[in-house]
Amino acid sequence: MSVQSHYDNHLAAFYAWMTGNFDVKQQEQEAYFVRKEVIPSGNAVAIDLGAGHGLQTVSLARLGFTVYAVDFNQHLLSELNARVKGMPVRTILANLTHTAQYTMPAELIVCMGDTLTHLDSAEQIASLFREWQQMLSSGGKLVLSFRDLTPELKHDERFIPVRADDERIHTCFLEYFPGFVRVFDLLQEKVNGQWIQKVSSYQKLRLGIEQVKIMLTAAGFTVQDHEVIARMHYLVAVRQNA
Ligand SMILES: C[S@@+](CC[C@H](N)C(=O)[O-])C[C@H]1O[C@@H](n2cnc3c(N)ncnc32)[C@H](O)[C@@H]1O
Repeated sequence: MSVQSHYDNHLAAFYAWMTGNFDVKQQEQEAYFVRKEVIPSGNAVAIDLGAGHGLQTVSLARLGFTVYAVDFNQHLLSELNARVKGMPVRTILANLTHTAQYTMPAELIVCMGDTLTHLDSAEQIASLFREWQQMLSSGGKLVLSFRDLTPELKHDERFIPVRADDERIHTCFLEYFPGFVRVFDLLQEKVNGQWIQKVSSYQKLRLGIEQVKIMLTAAGFTVQDHEVIARMHYLVAVRQNA
């Protein structure tokens, strides 16, 4: 199954429930941007790639950016739209690998919440880094957050409880291959008093943090900051001056 079908047919419907309280998660993202001084200083245009239901988009809009939120899943973009009434946000339903659909001068591009690992290959990401570098103004920033899936979980560790309540249980199962992990999202849901199980899977890239830093430097960025928060690597990269 492709990543897009996985979201369209399975994960998007319960993504918001899976991530938990929106306001709490959004405030964590906003606090991160403030701590790293990711605030408007140029044309105030930010592009949020793989925006989902809006954790980063809402944070950036609240900090004064005009945000273009790009995602290929309509369900999640509709949830995002419902949250940003009155805010300077535009949604773009597009595959983020098709840069022509969102190319514009920007001072900030973010691709966060593990979206990077959803892409096809490290080569594709290296090429996107070069295109994003061209889109950014001098001194513009690229902010990434992703999981380094290069260390392999073994045996029972591969069964990850994500969230459970009286009506739903979500578990992830990970199967490791060279270069990628197959992620199974198991959802058990109570329908008319009966537990129904739905399973769907997709591939995530095993991107090493040092590999990503090397790719950023090769594309013309300087890595300004690296922090690990809840096992997620957060990077702030700045476009080098020509
Ligand atoms: C793990 S979610 C992260 C969402 C959000 N940034 C967050 O932190 O909650 C990944 C998002 O990227 C989107 N996505 C994955 N691959 C994409 C692609 N090639 N083009 C556009 N959107 C993509 C998915 O639809 C999903 O909304």
